[in-house]
Amino acid sequence: MKTSYILTGARRVLRELRLHFTHHGTGKSSVSRRLGNQEDASVYRVPTPDTIDMESDDSSFDWFKSYGDVAGIFRELLPDKSARILMLGCGNSKLSEEIYDDGYKNIVNIDYSGVLIEKMRQKYIESHPEMEWHEMDIRELSFASDTFDVAIDKDHDEPGTMDAMMTTKGDVWDPSQEVIDNCTQEVDEVLRVLRKGGTFLYLTFGQPHFRRRYLTRAETTLEVRALGEAFHYYLYIVRT
Ligand SMILES: C[S@@+](CC[C@H](N)C(=O)[O-])C[C@H]1O[C@@H](n2cnc3c(N)ncnc32)[C@H](O)[C@@H]1O
Repeated sequence: MKTSYILTGARRVLRELRLHFTHHGTGKSSVSRRLGNQEDASVYRVPTPDTIDMESDDSSFDWFKSYGDVAGIFRELLPDKSARILMLGCGNSKLSEEIYDDGYKNIVNIDYSGVLIEKMRQKYIESHPEMEWHEMDIRELSFASDTFDVAIDKDHDEPGTMDAMMTTKGDVWDPSQEVIDNCTQEVDEVLRVLRKGGTFLYLTFGQPHFRRRYLTRAETTLEVRALGEAFHYYLYIVRT
């Protein structure tokens, strides 16, 4: 097992511990107080269009080793390679590239960082010409309803798209109205643009206790699969 994978997993376990031990009011955990807050501050930095610096970071390290880790599940859930896929908060992840190389060419990538989207567009314009890139907020999608077969939100070494909105300061046991609204808006918008029979895949270290509330709707079904080796992560599958 690669050292980077172990370190990433350990960081994520610490983060989850923080979520579990966060104190009311202070927003600090007993764990983070013992460790000091330097590490804590960087782990919990929530990316915004202004704070993302694509110029200084060309790497695209993903905490799961590669798409290969989930390719089997992906092909099982999505047998139709012509499916239209929406990648939410794509960042500079290689996931879209790897899915494309597996034969799924109909991928639409969005992120609210215009700098990042432009950089990704230039990077892939020749090698992956069918991929689309749009600067867009996941809480307000400008796509027509019922137009995608799959939407994907994948967490990263730092909080992913829904995770980024969820791990703002505050108590995860009792999230602020702003956090609830942001996560609810993302899921509302995803369900709106998915066709009937579509699938929302959310891949994260976030445990079911903190995620179910945003993903459970009367008109959809939710399946949760635990994945990974030393450190578990979760695949949430919402079917419309
Ligand atoms: C930590 S990165 C994860 C990127 C990618 N999914 C991955 O796994 O590497 C979170 C991404 O979500 C984007 N993001 C956060 N909130 C967003 C929002 N409301 N609308 C669109 N993108 C958002 C950020 O710009 C950032 O690129």
